[in-house]
Amino acid sequence: MKLDNLTSFFFAKKPTQAAFFLTYQCNSRCSWCNAWQQPKIKELTFPQIKKVFQQLKNFGVKLLYLSGGEPLLRQDFLAIVKLAHQLGFDLILVTNGILLDGRLIHHLVKIPSLRINVSLDSLDKKLYQKIRGVDALDRVLQNLKLFKNLYPHYPLRITMTISAVNLNQAEKIYQFCQKNHFYFSPNPYFELGRFRKKSPLHDYRKITKQLIDYYQKIALKAKNEAYLSGLPLVYQKLTLWLEGKMTEPCGAGEELLFIDPKGLVYACQDLKPFSDLTKEDLAKKWAAKKWLPAVKKCYQETPCFIFCTRSPYIIKHHKIQVLFDLLTSKKLLHYFKMY
Ligand SMILES: C[S@@+](CC[C@H](N)C(=O)[O-])C[C@H]1O[C@@H](n2cnc3c(N)ncnc32)[C@H](O)[C@@H]1O
Ligand code: SF4
Ligand code: SF4
Repeated sequence: MKLDNLTSFFFAKKPTQAAFFLTYQCNSRCSWCNAWQQPKIKELTFPQIKKVFQQLKNFGVKLLYLSGGEPLLRQDFLAIVKLAHQLGFDLILVTNGILLDGRLIHHLVKIPSLRINVSLDSLDKKLYQKIRGVDALDRVLQNLKLFKNLYPHYPLRITMTISAVNLNQAEKIYQFCQKNHFYFSPNPYFELGRFRKKSPLHDYRKITKQLIDYYQKIALKAKNEAYLSGLPLVYQKLTLWLEGKMTEPCGAGEELLFIDPKGLVYACQDLKPFSDLTKEDLAKKWAAKKWLPAVKKCYQETPCFIFCTRSPYIIKHHKIQVLFDLLTSKKLLHYFKMY
């Protein structure tokens, strides 16, 4: 992350991060997500995306997650990411890794403001297929191997979504990451978010106790284990949330915005859109704060712990502790590489 973007994140009084779902189309059929079941919609064209980026930039967004659906399915993905880079955004691509072939890797690693997150939730073929609905583990592992061979020092991150069916894979995937020098980010499954499915197969309540144990250990290791991504404080707060003790607000709308493939803006994926970037001025619509009562009601009555809204809020509101943890960590350089 650029230093001036980091400084703005700490001191801005409006969101500096946005998750942009470039498409809802997908080449997987995950059992915990129904992006792939959405009817085909008219997505923003490249010139419209240009305008959306300009609005986001003028508004003060510094960090953009390029996500979806599967963002690499957009034919113009490379042009989109290059444009976002030229405009000065820090970028994080979130992909299932199926289309991450040699040609694409060569292009993507040349974009200095881009970090790549590949989702990997199982190293067992059958379980991968049960979770992701497609027989694509070999392809993803092949692409990761190619990436490693071509760019051994690239700070690639593996995002694992943990649910009741795959907690037993977490240690194996972490070891795989350590061996390959990939960063490992273990995120819990939730039945929230616009396209997140309520699925008995994944229900984390079946394994709350094991999850609490797991994340307590992760919180202890996060400070000094080089290839473990995330801050100890965020994992500590997650365990509090799992124990039913978390009462802090979330950062939906205040720290992070969501943009859908049509250019509609949401404070939280679970709420209604409050602006249309193709027609309206984001700054005015955001400042009117019509989105705020619904967000407050939600975090007071049915709080969730999705990392994208929780992490920025926690980091920003506990600056001293985060700074202390970073400065006393044995892996400060890794934190710089990761973000
Ligand atoms: C929605 S996907 C979009 C990007 C890309 N298709 C992928 O799978 O990485 C982004 C991340 O959300 C995770 N995800 C999907 N459904 C989820 C759920 N119900 N709870 C938590 N994470 C979920 C995925 O595993 C993935 O890591
Ligand atoms: S989690 Fe990602 S890969 Fe799976 S269906 Fe959703 S968007 Fe597609
Ligand atoms: S707690 Fe916040 S991020 Fe979670 S669903 Fe509610 S408004 Fe959205």
